[in-house]
Amino acid sequence: NDQSSVSITVVGASGDLARKKIFPALFALYYEDCLPENFSIFGYARSKMTDAELRNMVSKTLTCRIDKRENCGEKMEQFLKRCFYHSGQYDSKEDFVELDKKLKELEAGRVSNRLFYLSIPPNIFIDAVRCASVSASSANGWTRVIVEKPFGRDSESSAALTRSLKQYLQEDQIFRIDHYLGKELVENLSVLRFSNLIFEPLWSRQYIRNVQFIFSEDFGTEGRGGYFDNYGIIRDIMQNHLLQILALFAMETPVSLDAEDIRNEKVKVLRSMRTLSMDDVVIGQYKSHTKGGITYPAYTDDKTVPKDSLTPTFAGAALFIDNARWDGVPFLMKAGKALHDRRAEIRVQFRHVPGNLYNRNFGTDLDRATNELVIRVQPDEAIYLKINNKVPGLGMRLDRSNLNLLYKARYSKEIPDAYERLLLDAIEGERRLFIRSDELDAAWALFTPLLKELEDKRLIPEYYPYGSRGPVGAHYLAAKHNVKWGDLG
Ligand code: BG6
Repeated sequence: NDQSSVSITVVGASGDLARKKIFPALFALYYEDCLPENFSIFGYARSKMTDAELRNMVSKTLTCRIDKRENCGEKMEQFLKRCFYHSGQYDSKEDFVELDKKLKELEAGRVSNRLFYLSIPPNIFIDAVRCASVSASSANGWTRVIVEKPFGRDSESSAALTRSLKQYLQEDQIFRIDHYLGKELVENLSVLRFSNLIFEPLWSRQYIRNVQFIFSEDFGTEGRGGYFDNYGIIRDIMQNHLLQILALFAMETPVSLDAEDIRNEKVKVLRSMRTLSMDDVVIGQYKSHTKGGITYPAYTDDKTVPKDSLTPTFAGAALFIDNARWDGVPFLMKAGKALHDRRAEIRVQFRHVPGNLYNRNFGTDLDRATNELVIRVQPDEAIYLKINNKVPGLGMRLDRSNLNLLYKARYSKEIPDAYERLLLDAIEGERRLFIRSDELDAAWALFTPLLKELEDKRLIPEYYPYGSRGPVGAHYLAAKHNVKWGDLG
């Protein structure tokens, strides 16, 4: 309302994430009239820049993607006028005090609510929190801080980070982002399960044979090798994005849709999971490959990556949830860079039909005849269910067909970017899609012993060609649990 204002400070404003995701998401929210009436946006970074220069930089990444209404250009101008820049060091309280003065001016005596988005590397993170917290004590509304992963690199460093954060902020001021939780189909998981009679009764070991979480990208770590090499694919994708989806997938029905109720259930799943060991994983790294006259680089060709790096760019893992609902059901994960396609999906393979009258129509491969529910998070968002169906005609031949809900065929409105949803939630104080510290601890507890062992033993990854389907080891891992990856046909 008129009496309050919200300022959003993007710390690390000239970085990749800020330019590619945060500013465009803020503009999209503005465009949709979702931002509060009195808002301002500040870019904060070390380089010297004027407001005009920041606006120019930001304007280059804004697009009028939302049904291309005519007044988009005008809206963009209005939006840019609300963007400002402040140059400062990340570890300088004085520089943040200067920022505070500018914020106060714009707030013009209204209740001041402040959101800080820390889009900066982990080594300067705590300094920035310490300094930005001067602004928390000076605001008379709420102050919230969005933080991006990496939240440490194992249990210990993550706990240390949490301890340092809590010196300056309360847990309810910290918004740990996992942008996969802001993806439309991930958010829809709960709707699918809890508001359709036909799914939830099947959602257990009784009917589900295995569940697969698949993430693949058809490009390597180009340009990000420096960051990536210190983390690897398990920390970059599995321990957060895929595990978060798994928790939502497998949790019990929450008491309500309140953030605390949902997160209570997620943390229970995570804490019921078996800690991973070396036998439960395969790791891979991509090597150079020439195709159609083009040579694609190996991971270690990146100049910022040590030549002898063993960092995995691919990993497969088999996880188990030791509770009554999921006992014995393999939850398989597969994540990789520089593979043949880009996709993120959940595949649920159901059990065989007992005493199936039509078994002989399927030949020997009964696995291929079981129902499979696929939730395709991206690209081409879709939910489809594979069923067995009679091929029309006089004979009795069956095939597998899809009951298919393809979003772009069903809904005309474009799907918002994950960052739009998450930024809006942070502004509105909705914590449902942000990670609570106990969830984070439980997630690290699962992976830390494995990560340590992989690194101590310097396990050699299985090399796979850039653009391929990844290491064969992933098949052996699945086969050990009687599973076939659903994405391979
Ligand atoms: C990030 C990872 O969290 O997610 C990147 O650090 C990865 O390595 C990215 O490329 C994938 O996100 P999206 O939304 O493009 O699938």
